[in-house]
Amino acid sequence: MLTKVDIEHEKSKLNFPFFKDALAPTRDEAGLLSLLDNLGKLPAGFNGELFIPLLTHANPKIRMLAAKNVGKLKDEKFLTELSQLASTEKNTFARREVISAIGRLKSEKAILTLTAYLADADPKVVLQALRGLLYFREKSEVQTALDSLREHPNELIREHLANEVKNKSTRSSKRKEEQHHPSSPDPLKNVIIYADVQEALKVIPDESIHLTFTSPPYYNARDYTIYQSYEAYLDFLTAVFKETHRITKEGRFFVLNTSPVIVPRMSRAHASKRYAIPYDMHPRLTDIGWEFIDDIVWTKPDYAAKNRNGGFFQHRKPLGYKTNSVTESVMVYRKKTDKLIDWNIRQYDDEIIAASKVRGDYEKTNLWHINPATDKVHPAVFPPELAARVVQFYSFKGDLVFDPFGGSGTVGYVALTHERYFFLCEKEAEYVERAKQLLDGALFSHIKPRVISLTDLKSEFEKRNENLRY
Ligand SMILES: C[S@@+](CC[C@H](N)C(=O)[O-])C[C@H]1O[C@@H](n2cnc3c(N)ncnc32)[C@H](O)[C@@H]1O
Repeated sequence: MLTKVDIEHEKSKLNFPFFKDALAPTRDEAGLLSLLDNLGKLPAGFNGELFIPLLTHANPKIRMLAAKNVGKLKDEKFLTELSQLASTEKNTFARREVISAIGRLKSEKAILTLTAYLADADPKVVLQALRGLLYFREKSEVQTALDSLREHPNELIREHLANEVKNKSTRSSKRKEEQHHPSSPDPLKNVIIYADVQEALKVIPDESIHLTFTSPPYYNARDYTIYQSYEAYLDFLTAVFKETHRITKEGRFFVLNTSPVIVPRMSRAHASKRYAIPYDMHPRLTDIGWEFIDDIVWTKPDYAAKNRNGGFFQHRKPLGYKTNSVTESVMVYRKKTDKLIDWNIRQYDDEIIAASKVRGDYEKTNLWHINPATDKVHPAVFPPELAARVVQFYSFKGDLVFDPFGGSGTVGYVALTHERYFFLCEKEAEYVERAKQLLDGALFSHIKPRVISLTDLKSEFEKRNENLRY
């Protein structure tokens, strides 16, 4: 089998006889697949005719990769062969690739063909046709064709078009004054606000924070908050996470730890009720504009679970089986944007990126085995290891990490130990006091942790705005 180095060498010599032989349709399929997949960028003058016989190969993967390589040549003389293949291809992945290759030709002659595929039943194909046509977006017939897709049933197609409109308006008008992405407001750095989170959030400017990691109250499972109904509880969390979305910087992360809870039965004659909080919150979060990224499962040792298995253990009758739950959900979301993660990373200096790298061994799966933690004051604290992973994977040094339900301050402590700033809210005085103790002991930052009231925070922002004005 040819190595990438061999291939590069032959490409640099434009060794036509070599490639004619290596790409012959009679060659073994594994060799052809590997060569087509590893050809990389094709040099000017590469003979694209060599791919044409492979466009009718029996193996759809070979047809797909051949079309991809033809597309790289951006030569409109191949439009006929590609259009022919598009009209007969049955494999959906190969069809997608052929339409993509036609788009890459950037040929006006391809406009009609691409427009026809906007009506294709396969959204993958429509998206590729759409991408190809965007190159000609100034032409009125292309505009009309794209407009016909605005109400398309597929969400990715609608999103792609909406982003196009948004990008166009920022391209043509002057781009809004961009905030410096890595910075955050000084009045929020290393601060615990002793207040109700909904009141506190009203004071926080848009796009202030880089990461949120939080574990909200688990409905009425503990007595620090009592909600009238499950719906009222979900509405409360939704309102808090909507505001969290507003104060989060573009493309940054929100990590939510919850788990199903059980509300005990009223009497032996009643059943207990279980509420699936992570699943009920998920659609509400995506509606707000949080894009789903990952579902991490935090697994605890067996001893950490409440025993729900006693009855079944005795009677062993079907339907009565209940699990001892040793997992919690750690759902990862990103503030929806059309920008890639690379855009976020590029906002930082090379030194910050290098210093923030996650070195050594790390968990590669979404199953995180971490022992639970206990605290002498707070009944439900994060294990620092859990918070440390989230902080390291989803923020840079110098970022501002937010926990709207700060509790005993674990997120703050971990943020400081990893050279980030924290901003916490907590409404119970005894937990604020506990957090203060913990954070005062963490001498890692030049900005001393402080507890402030909502009134103080408001006046700090007012002063800051005055200074910015004059
Ligand atoms: C699950 S605990 C968080 C524990 C925290 N992760 C830790 O490691 O200590 C939830 C916290 O949210 C606080 N809380 C509940 N409702 C609140 C509200 N409306 N505003 C601010 N804090 C609230 C509770 O007092 C509780 O400390």
